[in-house]
Amino acid sequence: MTEPISGFSKLTKEEKIDWVTSHYTQNKEQSINILQTYWNQNSNIQRLHDEFIENTLTNLYLPLGIAPNFLINGNLYAIPMAIEESSVIAAASKSAKFWLKRGGFKTEVLGTEKVGQVHFLFKGSFEKLSSFFTYLKPKLFSESASLTISMEKRGGGISDIVLKNKTAALKNYYQLHATFQTKNAMGANFINSCLEQFAATLKKEAVSYHGFSEKEKNVEIIMSILSNYVPNCTVRAQVSCPVEELNLSSDLSPQHTAEKIIQAIKIAQIEPYRAVTHNKGIMNGIDAVVLATGNDFRAVEAGVHAYACRNGQYSSLTHAEIDNGIFKFWIELPLALGTVGGLTNLHPLVQLNLEILQNPSAEELMQIIAVAGLAQNFAAVSSLITTGIQKGHMKMHLLNILNQLGASDIEKGKLVTHFKTNTITHHEVELQLNALRN
Ligand code: MEV
Repeated sequence: MTEPISGFSKLTKEEKIDWVTSHYTQNKEQSINILQTYWNQNSNIQRLHDEFIENTLTNLYLPLGIAPNFLINGNLYAIPMAIEESSVIAAASKSAKFWLKRGGFKTEVLGTEKVGQVHFLFKGSFEKLSSFFTYLKPKLFSESASLTISMEKRGGGISDIVLKNKTAALKNYYQLHATFQTKNAMGANFINSCLEQFAATLKKEAVSYHGFSEKEKNVEIIMSILSNYVPNCTVRAQVSCPVEELNLSSDLSPQHTAEKIIQAIKIAQIEPYRAVTHNKGIMNGIDAVVLATGNDFRAVEAGVHAYACRNGQYSSLTHAEIDNGIFKFWIELPLALGTVGGLTNLHPLVQLNLEILQNPSAEELMQIIAVAGLAQNFAAVSSLITTGIQKGHMKMHLLNILNQLGASDIEKGKLVTHFKTNTITHHEVELQLNALRN
C-alpha cells in the first residue's frame, strides 16, 4: 500500500516521475522511458507545456488533422481537427466535399451573450431587497469600472445585472444574474473578476444600508461564478439543396434519402437514447475544432448538452425538413469561444491552427465550429440510413487493429488491399495476418 505524499507539487519533474513510477508502475525504467518519449525536443515548448498545469510529467498527444473543402458563406476553409477517433476527419471531409458542390454551408451568429451569477442568501423581505438592489445597481457598475475599462474599449463589457428571487426553489436564495459581452475573448477571467467585485460590493453595501434590519444586513455570499450555460450565445449553420441532388446512395432515391434523414432526425428529437448518440457524433466534430483552437471543450460540452434539453427533454441539436422541394438541414447550438487570451496566445500550434482558419474572430469561429458539427452529423446520419456505420468506421479502424497486432509496413499494405473488398472484424484481421505470416 503506497503512503500518501505531502509537498508533491514542490518536487522537480524528475522527482515526480521517479515517485510515481516507483510506486504505481511495474517496470520503472520502461515507464520513465515512455514518459520521456513524449517530451518535446524543444525545451522551450516543453517548458510552456510544463507550466500550463501543475505536476506535468509529459504530454499526451492527439493527432491533429485537417478537413479541407469547407465552403462557408462563400469562403473556402480547411479546418484543423484534434481527434483520436479514426473516422471523424474522413467523415467531415466527405460532407464538406458533398456540400461544396451544392452551395456550401450558410451560417449566422444568433447571439453572443455570456452569463455569470453571484449566488447569495438573504433573510428578510424581498420588497426591501428589491429597493436595495435599485440603490446597489449603479454601484455594481461603478465599483467594477477598473475591471471593465479595457473590455469596454474593445466593444464589450457588462450588459445588465438583474436581481433574481429563487426562494420558491430554495429558502433565502437570491442571485445577481449578470450578462456580458466579451468580444473575441471567451471571457471567463473577465466575468469571474467582475462577479467577485459585485459580491464584495453587495456585501459591503448591505452592511451600511439604512433600510435593512440587522438580520437583513447580513447578506451571505455563497459563490460567484460564470455560467457555462449560454442559451443566448448561439449560432446556426445550414445546408440545403433541391431534393433531387441528395444522391447519396445508388440504392436509395434522393427523395427516399431525404425522407430517411428527416425520419432519423425526428427519432433523435423525441428519443433521448438516440439523441445522446446523435449529439455525440456532432460533438466529434465540434470538440475536435474546439481543441485545435485552444478552447475549453468541457465548457462547450456542458453548455451544449444543457441546451439540448432546454425544453425539458434531451433532444437533437440538428433539424431537417423538405420545404418546397428543397432539402434543408441545420444545427443550432450555443458556443462560448475565444480567439484571444488563454491558450490561444500561448500555444504555437493553436496559433497556427487559428492562422489556417484565417485568424477568425470569436463569432467567425463559432460559425466554423457549428459547421464542423453539422458536417459530422450529416456524414453519420447519411451512413446510418444507407450502408450503416461499421463499413466506413472499420475501414478507418483497420490500421489501429494492424498496429495493435504489430503488423509490419509490408503486411499492412497487403492487408489494407485485401480488406478493400472483405468485411473487417478484429478476428478476421488477426486470421489474415497469421495466414500471411505462415
Ligand atoms: C461515433 O463516434 C458517432 C456516431 O455514433 C454518431 C451517430 O450515431 O449519429 C456514428
